[in-house]
Amino acid sequence: MQASLTPVSREYAAARNMLRANAAVWTPAFWTSLAHARAAQRRGAMQKLRELAPLVALVGSESPRVVVEIGTAGGGTFYAWCRAAAPDATIVSIDLPGGPFGGADGPADVTTLSRYGRPAQALHFLRADSHDQETRARLDEILGGRGVDFLMIDGDHSYDGVKRDFEMYKPLVASGKPIAFHDIVPHPQAPGCEVDRFWNEIKDGRPYLEFVDRDAPDQYGGIGVVYADGDRRSRDRRRRRRSIASP
Ligand SMILES: C[S@@+](CC[C@H](N)C(=O)[O-])C[C@H]1O[C@@H](n2cnc3c(N)ncnc32)[C@H](O)[C@@H]1O
Repeated sequence: MQASLTPVSREYAAARNMLRANAAVWTPAFWTSLAHARAAQRRGAMQKLRELAPLVALVGSESPRVVVEIGTAGGGTFYAWCRAAAPDATIVSIDLPGGPFGGADGPADVTTLSRYGRPAQALHFLRADSHDQETRARLDEILGGRGVDFLMIDGDHSYDGVKRDFEMYKPLVASGKPIAFHDIVPHPQAPGCEVDRFWNEIKDGRPYLEFVDRDAPDQYGGIGVVYADGDRRSRDRRRRRRSIASP
C-alpha cells in the first residue's frame, strides 16, 4: 500500500522505472538522473519522483543541444533540463507570469533560474504567453533555424491550451526527438486540467512512452512522451510502445 512505502522503496521504484526507460544502470548517467530528479524536486518541481526520474534519464541519454520548456513555474524541471542537456546546450524557458496552473509559490525569478545553467549553456527566458505568435517568433529568433531536441509541454493544462502548444511548437522539434507532456492522467482536484483528454487523442497511432506513478495516494501527474514526426527509428520505437507504470 502507498502509505507503507518508505523513501527507500520509492527510490527503488524510481530506479526500476528508469531501467524500463533506459536500460543503462551500469552507467553513471543512470544514477545521476535520479539525483537530478531529486534535486529538481527540492527546487520546486511539481512532479512525482517516479515519473520525473525516468524522463530525466531519457533526456540525459540523448544529451540534447536545444531544449524548450513551456511552463517553468518554480524552475524545478528547468533545473533538471540544465543538468540533463549537453554542457553547451541552448535552453529556453517560456512561462507566463501569473499564468494558470502555476501553484501557490508563483514563478521563480530569472536570476535564480540563471544559476541553474552550466557555464557554457545559453539560457533564454521568455516571460510571455506561449500561445502568442510573438512568443513563437521570439523563439524562432533564438533558435536561428536549429531544431529543438527536447520539448517539454507543462504550461496551460486546458484542452485547448495544451493542444495549441503542441500544434504551435511541434514543428520546431527535430525529427525523432522527444516531446513530453505532464499531467496525462485525470486530475480530479484541478478543474480545467484536461491534458489527459488531449494525450489520449494523440498517443494512438504513434510511438509513445508513459511514466505513471499509480501508487501515489493523490491522483495527478503522469508523464507522456511522443516523438516528432518522420522518425527513422519509429519502427523500433513502435515495438517499444508501452505504458511504464509502477506495479
Ligand atoms: C505546472 S506549472 C510548471 C511546473 C514546472 N514544469 C515544474 O514541474 O517544475 C505551469 C506553468 O505554466 C505557466 N503557464 C500557464 N499558461 C501558460 C501560457 N499560456 N504560456 C506560458 N506559460 C503558461 C504557469 O504560469 C505556470 O508557471
